[in-house]
Amino acid sequence: MMRQVREDSQEFSDEDAAAAGYGSGGGKARIITVTSGKGGVGKTNLSINMAIGFSRIGKKVVVMDADLGLANVNVMLNIVPKYNLFHVIRKEKTIKEITLETEFGISIVPGASGFAQIANMREDQRRGFIEELDTLSSADIIIIDTSAGVSSNVLDFIAAADDAVIITTPEPTSITDAYGIIKILASDSEYDTLNMGLKLVVNRARNASVAKEVSDRMIRIAGQFLNLKLDYLGFVYDDPAVSQAVLRQRPFMVMDPKCKAGICVQHLVERMDKNKPLESAGFSGMLKRLFGLNRK
Ligand SMILES: Nc1ncnc2c1ncn2[C@@H]1O[C@H](COP(=O)(O)OP(=O)(O)OP(=O)(O)O)[C@@H](O)[C@H]1O
Ligand SMILES: [Mg+2]
Repeated sequence: MMRQVREDSQEFSDEDAAAAGYGSGGGKARIITVTSGKGGVGKTNLSINMAIGFSRIGKKVVVMDADLGLANVNVMLNIVPKYNLFHVIRKEKTIKEITLETEFGISIVPGASGFAQIANMREDQRRGFIEELDTLSSADIIIIDTSAGVSSNVLDFIAAADDAVIITTPEPTSITDAYGIIKILASDSEYDTLNMGLKLVVNRARNASVAKEVSDRMIRIAGQFLNLKLDYLGFVYDDPAVSQAVLRQRPFMVMDPKCKAGICVQHLVERMDKNKPLESAGFSGMLKRLFGLNRK
């Protein structure tokens, strides 16, 4: 299992682990990345609304915006953060100080360009940053809304998370680009794709059978040609309530709790909750895996 490989790796020193509170026991947050090959397929909407779905089953949830440059999550919730992870890196603010509580029962950590900096940090800076990030691990779930595409940053994130949700729509361009991501993950021998917890969501589907066809095809191709395990998490209807909610800058699950898309998202969340990883990594664990990967 990748996690064990990474933990055993000498590339992350014991000192790092101690600084990050690793091995000190206690629950660690489950880290879920939400990604797509093509942009505009629903990552931010699903990240936010899955978070709300998890909070409805009693989880403490944090959403992080790792979408470099585009402050997607903030805009969608009509919040204007003054500070972000970049200020934490510069030690001007703590994670707690930049975390925003929303009226929707979920917290937001504005990521801005913070994540892109991690790879370039000095050892001591990084240690401090990891320690700071790990204060978030008292949450039950951390959902990271990543940018679309195949930058190595995004791929490392996917590989290091407990669960990686890949979103596609039934459109051929979107499917091709989603396949592009898993192909790169599969062809890079540093990634242990069998244990990656890759989960496919088909968004904007007209009905369940269209979505199932898309996922069957992708899962078959991934298995046959890439030896990659991809699970079908489910689908979300194409639903006008989604764009209406975006216009009103409210999550669709809040604006219209009974909308078709909302019911689907609640199902996705419950399915994920039933299917937990054996042990979650928390931020320290995730970053440990990240640096294990980056340093090879
Ligand atoms: N299930 C859905 N039904 C109808 N429309 C949807 C659905 N999901 C997303 N959309 C539409 O697609 C738009 C883009 O969604 P969103 O911003 O969540 O995508 P994204 O993948 O985060 O985009 P980006 O790559 O730019 O960050 C939404 O504003 C909405 O209009
Ligand atoms: Mg987005």
